[in-house]
Order: sequence, then structure tokens, then C-alpha cells
Amino acid sequence: MKCSIRGAITVDSNTREDILLNTRTLLKEIINSNNIELDSITSILFTATRDLDAAYPAVAARELGIVNASLMCAQEMYVRDSLGMCIRVQVEVETGRTQRDMNFVYLKDAVKLRPDIAGRGKNIAVAIDGPAGSGKSTVARELAAELGFIYVDTGAMYRSIGYKCLENDVDTANEETVAELAEKINMEICYIEGKQRIFADAVDITDSIRTQEVADAASAVAKIPDVRRILVKLQREIAKNNNVIMDGRDIGSNVLPDAQVKVYLDADVAERAKRRCGELAQKGVEADFYKVLDEIMARDKQDKERKVNPLVIAEDATIIDTTDMKIVQVKQEIAELIREAML
Ligand code: DC
Repeated sequence: MKCSIRGAITVDSNTREDILLNTRTLLKEIINSNNIELDSITSILFTATRDLDAAYPAVAARELGIVNASLMCAQEMYVRDSLGMCIRVQVEVETGRTQRDMNFVYLKDAVKLRPDIAGRGKNIAVAIDGPAGSGKSTVARELAAELGFIYVDTGAMYRSIGYKCLENDVDTANEETVAELAEKINMEICYIEGKQRIFADAVDITDSIRTQEVADAASAVAKIPDVRRILVKLQREIAKNNNVIMDGRDIGSNVLPDAQVKVYLDADVAERAKRRCGELAQKGVEADFYKVLDEIMARDKQDKERKVNPLVIAEDATIIDTTDMKIVQVKQEIAELIREAML
């Protein structure tokens, strides 16, 4: 029987790389969530909105090894106020199943096109928690880009508040003043070419928050209940409307208790200090291993022992010890959990 599977995804920029990456993500998701063989695909029609002209999306199908199907790309007509930067596909398959068994796939902003499907709990939340240096952010960032999910780095939010305290000479131990400051900061998270940028009061502070001084201030302000209340609200709002991979300390246990996938990444503390020294060396900063080790142990203690939403392993989390693992292995393991959750 011939069946049609529809899908759409939005892209962040009109570049060849972004168009092909997102089209591959969409096709992989259609193939995985419908459990179809590549050979059963007879044709695919691709359309792109008029603001996308850097590549033919069909190239992504050939890259995935879909070699026998006939492929056709067309530009969509322009409709005022409609969703832009969008690629749609119609995949024709020859299968033993019926049309009613087919799952349509709408990813990223394209979920707005099919609220009926998005509303069936199709938004996926992946929570990745763990101590500093366990590999969370690299794994979460890379996986999100590969799967077309939004990566939410919640540590950056606590760092922003720590940064503003340092900038305004606010003592991070003074809960009341820090909470007042946190309430006033106009924090904006946006995604430029798929990367999270964080703005505080209209200033892009994404790069300035990556110092040890800011990390210590972040860990101190993260103890304050009002600070957590403000940031957790923002984090939940982002997850409500998007497929997200969110990393932090309390994501699986507190921010997104219903996340379909929960992972706790851990690693031996000496290995984590070694990784941190490596990162600093890449930036041209020579660091003392034992000093870095002390800083990490102090931050672990502070994050695990604080009263509100400490770093804990959520009951239903999968624990992955990354001490002897390569990033690519960790990513594969988590990608497998995500695929299982999406079926
Ligand atoms: O992951 P990171 O180093 O960027 O996080 C900075 C600090 O913020 C960290 O010491 C603990 C805190 N944090 C938190 O308490 N809860 C989160 N969800 C994320 C980070």
C-alpha cells in the first residue's frame, strides 16, 4: 500500500549547512518514528519558503543514503504573515501498513503549523544533570544541534545573575539584595544560528560569564530560593513550546519532572579537573591542576548541599559515568534513549 508521511521543520539561518542539517534531522525523525526502510521510500517532495535559497533540501536525502527514491524540490508561494524559514516534506512509502499508522513529524517552530500533533505530547524534553565538568554542556549542545532541538544551558542563567552581582558590587551572600537584582534583570535568551546567546539588560554577556569568578558567584546565587523561582519559571516556559535538551543540576528532579528522557552524567573528580584544565589550555590559560581540583570540589559541595533543589540524581534518571568515555559515545547512548522515547 502507498502511504504519505508529511513533516516540516524550521531552520535558523539561510545557509547550506543549516538547511541540510535540519532537513536530515527531519527525514531521520520521519524514518525512525515510522520505522521505515530506506528502500521503501518511492519519492519525496520538498518545499521551502522563499527566504531559503542556499541549498536544495533534497541533497540531505541523498546524504542519508536514500538513493532510489525520486526527489523534487519546489519553492512555496509567498503568503503574507505565514511561518518563514520553513522546509516541508511529503515522503511517499510503499509499505504493508495503512495510512492511519503513519506519524507526521513537525519539529522546532514548525510545530505551530500542526498544533493538533504538537498537542499530543509530541514535544520532547531531555533533562541532563550532573556536576561541573561531567561533559553535560558539550554533549547537550552537540546533540541538540544534531536532532534539531533547542539547547537550554541553565547554568548560563545562574551565571548571568552572578555576573550582574559582580558588576553591581552586590554581595552574593545577601539573599535579599540578590533577589531584588534578579527580579529586575531583563534576561533574554535567544538562539542565533542555533546557538544560545544570553542577554542581560540588552547586553550580550554570553562570553563574559565564562570565568571562574562568575562560576563561583553563580554557585552562590543558585542557593537563593527567589533566584531559583525566577529562573525555573523561565526554563519551564522555554520547554513548554519547544523540543528541548536542558542541562543543569535540578532539571530532571525539579524543573522538568515529566521529561521523557532524564540523564545524570558523572565523572571522577580528578578527570573533571583534568578536562577543565584542558579547556583553559585551549583558551591559552595555564591553570594549576590542584587549584582547579579544589575549585571543582568546592562547587560540587555547594551544589549538592544547598537546601533548595540541590544537585541530586532523579529517581528515574539513567546514570552515565563519562570518566573513560569519549563525547561521541556519550552522545550515542543519550541519542538512543531519545529515539526510544520518541517512538
Ligand atoms: O553548569 P555551570 O557551571 O554553568 O553552572 C553554574 C552554577 O549554577 C553551578 O555552580 C550551579 C548552578 N546551577 C544550578 O544551581 N542549577 C542549574 N539548573 C544550573 C546551574
